[in-house]
Amino acid sequence: MKLILLGPPGAGKGTQCKRIAEKYGLAHLSSGDILRAERAAGTELGRKAQSYMDSGGLVPDDLIIDMMIGAIKKTGSKGYVLDGFPRTVVQAEGLDAALKKAGETIDAIVSLEVPDEAILDRMTGRRSCLKCGAVYHIVNLKPKVDGQCDKGCGPLVQRKDDSPDVVSNRLKTYHEQTAAVLGYYRHTQSRIIAIDADQPIDKVSEAVFEALRRLGR
Ligand code: AP5
Repeated sequence: MKLILLGPPGAGKGTQCKRIAEKYGLAHLSSGDILRAERAAGTELGRKAQSYMDSGGLVPDDLIIDMMIGAIKKTGSKGYVLDGFPRTVVQAEGLDAALKKAGETIDAIVSLEVPDEAILDRMTGRRSCLKCGAVYHIVNLKPKVDGQCDKGCGPLVQRKDDSPDVVSNRLKTYHEQTAAVLGYYRHTQSRIIAIDADQPIDKVSEAVFEALRRLGR
């Protein structure tokens, strides 16, 4: 199965993609996580991406398309769920071109819908594990021990781009450049699943799984 999860920053894409990947045995390909790993490793791509990420803007399309098509190829026949990509119409077209060349198609686009008002609290309360990638929230998804990853990795951290001013820029970027991706898919894809993601995390997961079941998955 090949899926794309769309939604604004903080919609819960990462949280839901982890659950989908686990349930269906898919690779979880998060453009944000891959970029953060590149930064941590000090690669040229990571250095190029840094200023865009810190300000809440988008990393240039050509860098992202190459990075994500490369990651997709590495999954082989496993199937995948894309998280944070594509984020512009140019990226969606780049993905379509690569899929066409490989004779593949996306099975469904899942759109997580959350109003802007719910986002700030989610992002400023998010805590992440740099080692295993687990994501928590200080109120909505607490770790068992305050500030510590449940998997024994050590302390959780707050993402630098989760400060209120960067979050507001990320939301602006989303409305200006990323919201159009859904419009693009409405013209090119028949299987778009809209999910009300302004409800508790487990309810969102149930709605996603139920929608995929209805597609025969
Ligand atoms: P990226 O890491 O992709 O950030 P994002 O899209 O802004 O998404 P987030 O990871 O912030 O949120 P999410 O939707 O995954 O929510 P999560 O599940 O964590 O990108 C970072 C940067 O990299 C970008 O700004 C850009 O610079 C660059 N970049 C990445 N991809 C790019 C691309 N394709 N092109 C160009 N540049 C790119 O949940 C958030 C919090 O809310 C958590 O604490 C969670 O516990 C909580 N939560 C989740 N669901 C719920 C719920 N239903 N109710 C209550 N709380 C919830």
